[in-house]
Amino acid sequence: MTTPWIRAFAPASVSNVGPGFDTFGFAVEGMGDLVAARTSSIPGARLLEITGDDGSLPREAAKNTAGIAASQVLDRIAALDGRDKANGEDGVGVELRLEKGMPLASGLGSSAASAVAAAVAVNAALGGHLSQETLLHCAIEGERIACGAAHGDNAAPSLYGGFVLVRGKGTPRIDPLPVPEGLSCAILRPHVAVQTGAARALLGDHIPLANAITQWGHAAALVAGLFSGDYELISSAIHDVVAEPVRREWVPGFEAIQRAALESGALGCSLSGSGPSLFGLCRSQEEAQNTLAAMQQALGSATDLRGDGFVSVVGAQGARVLAAGEKP
Ligand code: HSE
Repeated sequence: MTTPWIRAFAPASVSNVGPGFDTFGFAVEGMGDLVAARTSSIPGARLLEITGDDGSLPREAAKNTAGIAASQVLDRIAALDGRDKANGEDGVGVELRLEKGMPLASGLGSSAASAVAAAVAVNAALGGHLSQETLLHCAIEGERIACGAAHGDNAAPSLYGGFVLVRGKGTPRIDPLPVPEGLSCAILRPHVAVQTGAARALLGDHIPLANAITQWGHAAALVAGLFSGDYELISSAIHDVVAEPVRREWVPGFEAIQRAALESGALGCSLSGSGPSLFGLCRSQEEAQNTLAAMQQALGSATDLRGDGFVSVVGAQGARVLAAGEKP
């Protein structure tokens, strides 16, 4: 027996935010993925349709972040019900439709948004018994497949909303961080694709102690700045000496765009996640509009690449089930 379609939306996110490789992320507004789910009498998760990806994502549920997150939710619910998959007692299944509302390989948490939306939609379709913490774990499993590492700094802000601190493996501990009123970002996406898995492999396993000291000082300063609302402190903290120096080589015009953002008054500018998108963190949406214009102009002057961009506040809302006909 099938149930009515339940739709869930999960927002895009900016991760790392300068010094917080794999530990900081915030949700944005106006961009994200939609997943519709309904139950099915065929066990397991099946992806019936994906739109908005130009056919580039795997259709097989076991290879797609949304399908994996959905399967994880099914397993968790089966365990809650006392059903044992090993004995073939996994009679519940789900069908999914994934609507990509954001570019792939953009550094904006695309794979996480799909996984989070799927986890939330499937949980709701099956009665909504799982906790947010469990849904996060299910979504992070999707990330593991997408990029080979189960990092939670996109999935957590996409699920919970706001600006979050993410620590620990498996199911990480999530602490929400305060956001000064109006804190906004300009996002510019140069039209090149960067695969997160490859961008992580580029980093290797070790960093010099001097860089670690610099980085954890900046990370601590960013947290302190968010708590105190001290923009000067926040501005002094948006630096990344670990990932950015290596990854920026893959983003044509990076230095010129970053310089333009800072000269326009942004508090800081770095890669969003593994790139190619850059974010400029700003005090207000108005400042972010000016910063975006400066970044776009720099991209045009320094490269032959096209790009697109948008402005968002730090999004307070995370993933949510939509009412019938509701737009995200
Ligand atoms: N923290 C992750 C990374 C985010 O930088 O690899 C990927 O979007």
